[in-house]
Amino acid sequence: MGKIVAANWKMNLRRRSACELAAALKTDGRECWLFPGFPLIAPVADTLIGGKVKLGAQDVSPEQDGAFTGDVSAEMLEDAGCEMVLVGHSERRHIHGEDDALLLAKLKRAVEAGLKPLYCVGETLKQREGGKATEVVKSHLAILSEMGGADRACAVAYEPVWAIGTGETATPEQAGEMHAFIRSELTKQGLGQLPILYGGSVKPDNAHALMTQPHVDGVLVGGASLKLDSLRAIDDIAREIG
Ligand code: 13P
Repeated sequence: MGKIVAANWKMNLRRRSACELAAALKTDGRECWLFPGFPLIAPVADTLIGGKVKLGAQDVSPEQDGAFTGDVSAEMLEDAGCEMVLVGHSERRHIHGEDDALLLAKLKRAVEAGLKPLYCVGETLKQREGGKATEVVKSHLAILSEMGGADRACAVAYEPVWAIGTGETATPEQAGEMHAFIRSELTKQGLGQLPILYGGSVKPDNAHALMTQPHVDGVLVGGASLKLDSLRAIDDIAREIG
């Protein structure tokens, strides 16, 4: 598999801007992965029909159908055209206080419903400065061993919290070092084949250095994925590396 470019649009874009972006990527014949906000999923899915771009959601309920006001079930996402779902993004862990028990329930539910989780891990600045980066990432990865069917995930993403939306990027060496650690942890769980993406202020000017590190199988892009030019540029770099 070539390098993967995944776009986490977070709480951005509207129907028109999202569909325009999606339509352009489809016309280009690109194979990237898009994670739009909930209301944008269905129109973007329609736009992508017949193309190679894959679609995912940014969150999923740990519950099946029922009285869970405001939640969106894995079945609904699947029905709307999603193949994948982000689980464990730091903005969910830290802003919404999602803990391991909840994330494990979401992972299980997603896999049961046939969605492939893109599971995100990563340490805060305080944890890194306290020498705890690998310990934290290891604990995030540990829940994969409890979920069953983790081989059905689409990828793991290493997203150091201090590099998300800050303009601060892990150096290619820092990313490479952590990706090698993640690979060894995944291998111990029999999940050595899962792609490992890097996320955190990925831009066209740092994408090459990051994606040429060993064990960096692609990137999960936030801010730079909202503009067609920068997303195309990052995807071009990914194709070039192959
Ligand atoms: P930025 O690229 O905006 O730093 O966001 C990274 C991210 O959180 C992707 O999931």
